Amino acid sequence: MAAQTRISRPTPALARAQAAWIAGIDPWRMLGYRPAALGRYLARKAGTRSVWIARAVGGAAPSGVVVADDGFLLGGFIALLAVRPEASGQGVGRALVERVAAEVFGTRRWLFVSCDGNNHAALRFYRKLGFSRVGRLPDLVRPGNVEILLRRSSATPPIPARARGAKIPAGAARVGYHRGRS
Ligand SMILES: CC(C)(COP(=O)(O)OP(=O)(O)OC[C@H]1O[C@@H](n2cnc3c(N)ncnc32)[C@H](O)[C@@H]1OP(=O)(O)O)[C@@H](O)C(=O)NCCC(=O)NCCS
Repeated sequence: MAAQTRISRPTPALARAQAAWIAGIDPWRMLGYRPAALGRYLARKAGTRSVWIARAVGGAAPSGVVVADDGFLLGGFIALLAVRPEASGQGVGRALVERVAAEVFGTRRWLFVSCDGNNHAALRFYRKLGFSRVGRLPDLVRPGNVEILLRRSSATPPIPARARGAKIPAGAARVGYHRGRS
């Protein structure tokens, strides 16, 4: 993560305010999500403490949002993850996922996410973060499209960011980094 970025829980109003830019990027743009409806969803989820945002210290606009639901197949489920295009590639997505993982793995064994099979960038991202492919969900979001179900185990240690020079812990491969075919 960029050193000056922090992860926190937003108020419902702040969560709602992120809907406009999220609806403007794929996959939500392509799927025709309306900002008002997405905003209501984000506000409702923030009300149940299911949303985290990333923002730069000093009050800049949030650069990323994640929504995580609890109690899905013995685990947690990332229902939405979005990073502003101008903030991508700086570790914001990783920081949001690791924040969710830390929370979920306090009580649960698995962290799940599903991703459009054509969203190769996101599939590579999740694979990099230790998720592996466990299922195929045809027609889930849109007829003709396939969602890929991925999961990460609580036994998978956080995979350090290569760009920031961290080393993979000794024995990490043995304890099960998931290298799924996503
Ligand atoms: C996918 C997304 C969340 C990634 O967020 P990000 O902040 O750009 O990703 P990070 O900078 O945290 O990257 C974390 C790691 O994943 C890798 N990664 C990120 N995007 C990648 C890509 N397209 N291809 C390969 N690797 C990628 C990074 O290289 C990094 O690894 P490293 O630290 O070892 O170099 C972001 O691009 C996004 O919001 N996309 C649009 C919405 C979307 O597709 N959401 C997921 C829907 S299921």
